[in-house]
Amino acid sequence: MDPVRRQYETYPYPERDPADEAKRLIEGSPSHPVEIDHFLYRGRRDWSQPFRALVAGGGTGDGLIMLAVKLADIGCPAEITYLDMSEASRAVAEARAKARGLGSIRFVTGDLLTAPEFGPFDYIDCCGVLHHLADPDAGFRALAEALAPGGGIGLMVYAPHGRTGVYPLQAAFGRLLRDDPPEDQVRLARHVLSGLPETNWFSRNGLLGDHRASDAGLYDLLLHSRDRPYTVAELAGALERAGLGVVSFVEPARYDPQHYLPCDPELAERVKALEPLEKATLAEQLAGNMKTHIVYAARPGEGGEAQPSRSQAVPHLKDVAAAALARHVAANGGFTVETDGLDHAIDLPRATAPLIAAIDGARSLGEIAAAAGLDWLAFGAAWGPVHRGLTGFNLLHYSQGARR
Ligand SMILES: C[S@@+](CC[C@H](N)C(=O)[O-])C[C@H]1O[C@@H](n2cnc3c(N)ncnc32)[C@H](O)[C@@H]1O
Repeated sequence: MDPVRRQYETYPYPERDPADEAKRLIEGSPSHPVEIDHFLYRGRRDWSQPFRALVAGGGTGDGLIMLAVKLADIGCPAEITYLDMSEASRAVAEARAKARGLGSIRFVTGDLLTAPEFGPFDYIDCCGVLHHLADPDAGFRALAEALAPGGGIGLMVYAPHGRTGVYPLQAAFGRLLRDDPPEDQVRLARHVLSGLPETNWFSRNGLLGDHRASDAGLYDLLLHSRDRPYTVAELAGALERAGLGVVSFVEPARYDPQHYLPCDPELAERVKALEPLEKATLAEQLAGNMKTHIVYAARPGEGGEAQPSRSQAVPHLKDVAAAALARHVAANGGFTVETDGLDHAIDLPRATAPLIAAIDGARSLGEIAAAAGLDWLAFGAAWGPVHRGLTGFNLLHYSQGARR
């Protein structure tokens, strides 16, 4: 059996218990419908229209369940296909769907390269999969081929710098343990980890914790037999070879080098002269903490991020309650976001607090402006910093029909 398939049959990842569906819904990026709408449909998608989605390499079902639950919540006539080569992972994902009464998902056990046979799709989620393929370019091409005109993809691949130390250790474990059964590899790897010299780069990298969470996490992080990270430039290249382009990295602000440079007009000029992908590359090189790249992609000229230029646009907050954020901004003139060990200060005028407090995922910008007694021009000036500060860290999106 292919070693990657053997791994996911032995250790479906991430480890999930279908009984937990009664207690919580796991949400993340990519693939929340509000986020899909924001990044790929300019915040204007009509969710009463059919939506065909593929969850490619769906694993134990995190992205699948979130997408299916959220689409069901808004009554979207969705057709969702799950595709994964691991039967053990599919069994977990299917049990989770059953626990939630999600009957409409088509489950397929098979190779991601067969994706076009099941399409076309308006949206494809592919999270943590392409970097494990024997021929990742063939995977990018298969997904592009499965995409309907006007559709988009949300994907996550590993990134090298935040995973510093992982690859030498994967190589070392391969050399030492390659021929052992997976359970023995995990046991012996734990033993090695307990005595790693403090000079080892993995020991020094405080950004990684999967190996402590579960055996499946340890296997996925350190014992994987096929795992290659992508720099920004490598990812953009792979997308381009498949006929796709980057719509946005997530979180967008993390790909802006200004966040990692001293405030200096000379440096700012040099950054300004760079192409968008060069800027993102520079940000990745300076930040050093990116473990993954999450990206929304589409064919050139298709897809597109929502802008606050329309009064009908409906803003939604993510991971933060409007009232609490508004209070914080009123008191402190901004707030701080932490991303993989790095704090970013976001300055916002205190006067924006009432506008933030009015965000409820239902009111449009026009309604928020009217309630604040601002004409559209004055509102635009006041809303600008809120839009930039929050969308930059993926805390604000626009969608007229999807809900958080
Ligand atoms: C790290 S898991 C990620 C699962 C899920 N996407 C998530 O984010 O939770 C990778 C998944 O990709 C699947 N996979 C890897 N290579 C594949 C291939 N060539 N065809 C189909 N599935 C594949 C594995 O079986 C595994 O379930």
